[in-house]
Amino acid sequence: MELTRACVSDLIKGMLGPKKKVYIKTFGCQMNVADSEQMALLLANDYVPTDRVEEADLYLINTCAIRRKAEEKVRSLLGSLQVLKQRHPQMLLGVGGCVAQQEGERLLAAAPHLDLVFGTHGIYRLPEMVRQAARGRRVVDIELTRGFPAQPRRHWRPGAVKTLVTIMQGCDNFCTFCVVPYVRGREYSRLSGEIVAEVADFLAAGGKEVTLLGQNVNSYGRGLPEGVTFPELLRRIDALDGLARLRFATSHPRDLSPELTAAFGKLPSLCEHLHLPVQSGSDRILNAMNRGYTRKEYLQKVAELRRVCPGICLSTDIIVGFPGETEADFEQTLELVEEAGFDQAFSFKYSPRPQTRAAALPDRVPGEVQAERLTRLQNLLNELTLKAHQRLIGKIAEVLVDGISKRSREELCGRLRTNQVVNFSGPRDLLGRLVMVKLTEAHPHSLKGTRVEDPTLSSPLADDPQSPQRRVSC
Ligand code: 5AD
Ligand code: SF4
Repeated sequence: MELTRACVSDLIKGMLGPKKKVYIKTFGCQMNVADSEQMALLLANDYVPTDRVEEADLYLINTCAIRRKAEEKVRSLLGSLQVLKQRHPQMLLGVGGCVAQQEGERLLAAAPHLDLVFGTHGIYRLPEMVRQAARGRRVVDIELTRGFPAQPRRHWRPGAVKTLVTIMQGCDNFCTFCVVPYVRGREYSRLSGEIVAEVADFLAAGGKEVTLLGQNVNSYGRGLPEGVTFPELLRRIDALDGLARLRFATSHPRDLSPELTAAFGKLPSLCEHLHLPVQSGSDRILNAMNRGYTRKEYLQKVAELRRVCPGICLSTDIIVGFPGETEADFEQTLELVEEAGFDQAFSFKYSPRPQTRAAALPDRVPGEVQAERLTRLQNLLNELTLKAHQRLIGKIAEVLVDGISKRSREELCGRLRTNQVVNFSGPRDLLGRLVMVKLTEAHPHSLKGTRVEDPTLSSPLADDPQSPQRRVSC
């Protein structure tokens, strides 16, 4: 075995004594999941990750501020950690991410048991902050830096099948309801060569599925001197050997160019799924949200996606009860949902966020009206999701097996290229493999299936990313 520099340094460290342990609790979106991974990587010289809170020498909370509820969860966890800190006074406690960015010093003042606060750009300075905290200094770092920070080289555990790759950060869109531009800062893209190299490393380690991440992922490349557009980046990644599935999130409808839409019909690894948040079906509300598209433009983009890739699954985000939303506006949202035929959707009650323009708008929608609209919307969305699952019954499709089913320890689970969860019976050595499954039962949040043993459809062929049988359609 070739000894890399990282291996040698690990060996030396191992001889010097056991490392300390870090427990990281992550709230929020995939960007936060990717950031938590980075934190673990950056701290790897001194700490190994643990999933047992009791043995943590360092406890980090990576927070989300997107809605008030998310922020409240963080505050409640932080409060409850006072007891743990009393039991283990040597344990360092840190809060990072969006709430930390937003609150800074105020968090330290509110929680005397807290040792460090680091913002969304502070994770790259985390090792030094932890060292200072270990010397007894309470530290805050919420500086927002310019440019995309240099990334540490990543390693994947053996058998890792999926990975998240951050390709841009921040957002310049300033949707009036959204706190992201304030807590994540301006938009910066990462150099394409670094991204392609990271994906190639992952594939060389046996990985199969890559999700490219950014708050506004399809505006990738804006402001970079190298002139690589997002569709061009997708083409370069798709061309790498061994990539079975490529996904990206989250896209803004305004930046969904014809070139990007066309990529869905062309690039073999690009999965037939797009998360395209619409937020509202009313032009008046879309305008008040500063979304930069009309209902008609959104539906035209959906129609074009379905034309180039008829089997594509669309998911979305919707906010109900934005200030000034009338019953008529809300009904337009219900109509748009039916017209677009979403396969999956996440829906939320509008929640005023600090610094955002919408927080100062008049005509707040009362909580009980928001709740009633959310229930109506979710009933419709659940119906559409179940119908979409029912349409798949009887089909044979490729599943990337990525875990043990939540419903039964006897079953495996994975996802279709179109992103639905499928549970089926099979031996655990299928974990991490692409297999063909006949879909037999539709449930509200998942499908059930049976592995197809037919030699022309089973694993060797399914494991071949170029196999035409991998897709449900499109
Ligand atoms: N209130 C409610 N939902 C929000 N989202 C973002 N900000 C708010 C807010 N202030 C939702 C949007 C976004 C998703 C990630 O969270 O739908 O797409
Ligand atoms: Fe928030 Fe809008 Fe940026 Fe998305 S595009 S992160 S909703 S400001």
